[in-house]
Amino acid sequence: MTYKRTEITPAQIENQLSVCQSLNRRLASRRAFVDTFGCQQNESDSELLRGYFAEMGCTLTQNEAEADIIVLNTCAVREHAEQRVFGNLGGFTHLKRANPELIVCVCGCMAAQKRIAEKIKKSYSLVNLVFGPDELWRFPELLQETIDGGKRVFATGSGEGSLVEGLPRVREAGVRAWLSIMYGCNNFCSYCIVPYTRGRERSRRAEDVVAEARGLIESGYKDLTLLGQNVNSYGKDLSDGISFAQLIREINAIPGDFVIRFMTSHPKDATEELFSAMADCSKCENHLHLPLQAGSDEILRRMNRGYTAKEYLALAARARSFIPELVLTTDIIVGFPGESEKDFAATLEVVEKARFDAMFTFIYSKRAGTPAATLPDPYTRAEKQAHFDRLIELQNQISAEKHAAYVGKTLRVLIDGFDREEGFLTARTRGGRLVRLPGTAADVGKFAQVTIDGSNTWALKGQIIDNR
Ligand code: 5AD
Ligand code: SF4
Repeated sequence: MTYKRTEITPAQIENQLSVCQSLNRRLASRRAFVDTFGCQQNESDSELLRGYFAEMGCTLTQNEAEADIIVLNTCAVREHAEQRVFGNLGGFTHLKRANPELIVCVCGCMAAQKRIAEKIKKSYSLVNLVFGPDELWRFPELLQETIDGGKRVFATGSGEGSLVEGLPRVREAGVRAWLSIMYGCNNFCSYCIVPYTRGRERSRRAEDVVAEARGLIESGYKDLTLLGQNVNSYGKDLSDGISFAQLIREINAIPGDFVIRFMTSHPKDATEELFSAMADCSKCENHLHLPLQAGSDEILRRMNRGYTAKEYLALAARARSFIPELVLTTDIIVGFPGESEKDFAATLEVVEKARFDAMFTFIYSKRAGTPAATLPDPYTRAEKQAHFDRLIELQNQISAEKHAAYVGKTLRVLIDGFDREEGFLTARTRGGRLVRLPGTAADVGKFAQVTIDGSNTWALKGQIIDNR
């Protein structure tokens, strides 16, 4: 695999910041609304957009109806997410009528696809600016071009992927901070659009990641979630790079009381080196999100996943041998083209054996431009839905059993926010399981010993016994 790194220079970023300054005179006091769809990488990218808006002197709003600039940061992983974006765009017609000056921007993974850009160009004339993830770093310049040029701007990019350091960022205040360690994906799973929208793998330099982690901890964040499409291949594109396991060790060595979480791991390169770092590092979560995707070897082969069901189970057992308390979660796609009853039965079998703590289940969504989109897909939506329901039922039972086994235990958790129910807070175990507990605002952001006194399929219930 050849790697291409297009590094954006500090001078290029300076340039963007001076565009922000010149826009500042015109945009100060305008209101911007950034709406995020999809994954945590998008959440992280939206923080950069908000950072640029702050430089431009704009106020951020959560209310699209009062916004002067709207940015939809989109997801292309499944069709449903795309439909939601088009639905939202349709709804903006009346906003634009009320405020003809309104600027509507579409970015993220949908915007990286020529097909979508064409559709927006043709059918959504209210959209002023479209730009892919590669172009996000030059958002100020693109916005200026949109405003000054008086015409629609489409910057869907080369798809090669850029690597940027030092952009302004407005983070959500709180306990958890996203920390991107790499971008893009080289795996080309046959169903997945991500390698086409986010380009090839590019790792940030370890010193940049560690410095950012240090800064986050110093400013009070307690939960650092390291992000990458495939964190296990971190560093492979750097000539002097360290491995992901070594990166965890370096972050773990930063003084302070905090948790290191990470996602996502690809089974084909989850190594014993990683498991051993997880076991050794007291601040690293004992949770592995290890997408299985399917349990049939034939489907796994057609998905281009690079492992068999047996190999996956052996890997899970290996991880558990290093980390006995390991929380194992997964993603499964139901109804990949040609997935038969027998193939699906193989998925159920692996799920029974693996005993995941939790699972994210998706019905296969055909993505134009991916190899799987050309495969014959003879099974009906109803058949796929029936498989989906059976799989969820099985997993719900396993999750409920796993959660019930916590009852009576005392654990250290990080209290990270407010629950929907009045008087209740949310917390996470070291393995990332959700705990709901009574408490007050003063407890948020603290570690606490809690006794687990209840559970269901999705969460645990507990009582704080000690704020330490
Ligand atoms: N259809 C359904 N699910 C998909 N995923 C990725 N691409 C598709 C698709 N075309 C799922 C995978 C991945 C998760 C983030 O989304 O399970 O792990
Ligand atoms: Fe998509 Fe596979 Fe890459 Fe994950 S590893 S982003 S599923 S291509």
